[in-house]
Amino acid sequence: MESTGVILIADDNENNLRVLSTMLREEDYTVRVATNGLQVLRSVGASKPDLILLDIHMPEMDGYTTCEKLKADPMFNEIPVIFISALTETFNKVKAFETGAVDYITKPFQVEEVKMRVRTHLLLRRRSLELENAIADLKSVQLKLVEAEKMASLGVLSAGIAHEINNPINFVYAGVNSLIKNFNELQKAMDAVLQYAFQCPEAAKEINAICDKHRLPERLNTIPMLANDIKTGAQRTTEIVKGLRLFTRSDQEEKALSNVVDSMEAALLLLKNQYKSKAEIIRQYDENIPAIKCYPGQLTQALVNILHNAIDAIKDKGTITISLQHHEPLLLICISDTGSGIPDHLVSKIFDPFFTTKAVGGGMGLGLSITHGIIGKHEGTIRVESKVGSGTSFFIELPTGF
Ligand SMILES: Nc1ncnc2c1ncn2[C@@H]1O[C@H](COP(=O)(O)OP(=O)(O)O)[C@@H](O)[C@H]1O
Ligand SMILES: [Mg+2]
Repeated sequence: MESTGVILIADDNENNLRVLSTMLREEDYTVRVATNGLQVLRSVGASKPDLILLDIHMPEMDGYTTCEKLKADPMFNEIPVIFISALTETFNKVKAFETGAVDYITKPFQVEEVKMRVRTHLLLRRRSLELENAIADLKSVQLKLVEAEKMASLGVLSAGIAHEINNPINFVYAGVNSLIKNFNELQKAMDAVLQYAFQCPEAAKEINAICDKHRLPERLNTIPMLANDIKTGAQRTTEIVKGLRLFTRSDQEEKALSNVVDSMEAALLLLKNQYKSKAEIIRQYDENIPAIKCYPGQLTQALVNILHNAIDAIKDKGTITISLQHHEPLLLICISDTGSGIPDHLVSKIFDPFFTTKAVGGGMGLGLSITHGIIGKHEGTIRVESKVGSGTSFFIELPTGF
């Protein structure tokens, strides 16, 4: 039969040890014995028992001191200790509890009492362990909830921003284009007028003076440059809005039956120019990967984002290994690169919108948050493992029954 717990009994009296051991073995406990305090500490250090029965009066190190030492060690202070004392001995109950014991039993033993107390304290210990585990689980779920809440509220916020920005940026975009066009026409007309006016030497002198005073040629030159800057800015803003829309999952693609292999190959094709000179692609695809219901365009987008980062992370030359596996009910996708890796303290941030370590203009920090959103939309999961100097692996699990 399976042991119901490991109990360490410490007593310098052989007879007591035998009586207690027999009694507890009958109850299917695994019993270990010690004859003094030092032996107890050694035995506990070698392997943790579930409960300790501790005699008070023992040579070398008495029960009180042994218990104090156990309670002072964070590794062992949770093990319940029950003192054993003879009715004839002086036994300081208060001191016993102060040293951290949970209970005491008196010699001569009453068999049923000993069994009951041991059972009760083992049960209490088990329950409190379960409680501790439940609390730890709750804490981790709470953290995930906070994270999900953060993502969700950012999503709502971003959707609002994307919507609000879209209109004004269209004005800017349309306005600046027509400004450039009008300015070109204006400049042509002005050149014609000036050419005409310069035919009169007196007027030419006046005109030159006015041009110098107002630094006209300089100003005329800067206008097209500024207009172009505005146009670039507007273009970039449009890209950001487009990214935000994907991140907030507001695009309306229809679900379709599609193969992840196709999405992966499409992503690789899109990025070919970026990786061909520096990264070797190793494909490890299971045969017969089934098509799944998904948003194929968005999946491709998610894979592009991960592959793009992998390419960026490879500074000189390296490899990107892509594995696709089918373990019903999941598709497992792993994209590993031999790039620079992600420092430990940044790993928790990489899925945050706008988190980037890339230079201005290099990245918007939206790639992975978009990817996270897309995988979530497919009821899948994504996680990362990374080591600075060795590389990074992204693991995606997609349910085939989505
Ligand atoms: N494969 C990778 N190797 C190293 N760092 C990575 C990798 N993937 C993502 N990162 C880190 O995560 C950050 C966020 O990525 P992402 O959301 O795609 O935004 P961006 O690429 O625009 O910076 C990157 O700036 C980079 O620091
Ligand atoms: Mg990126």
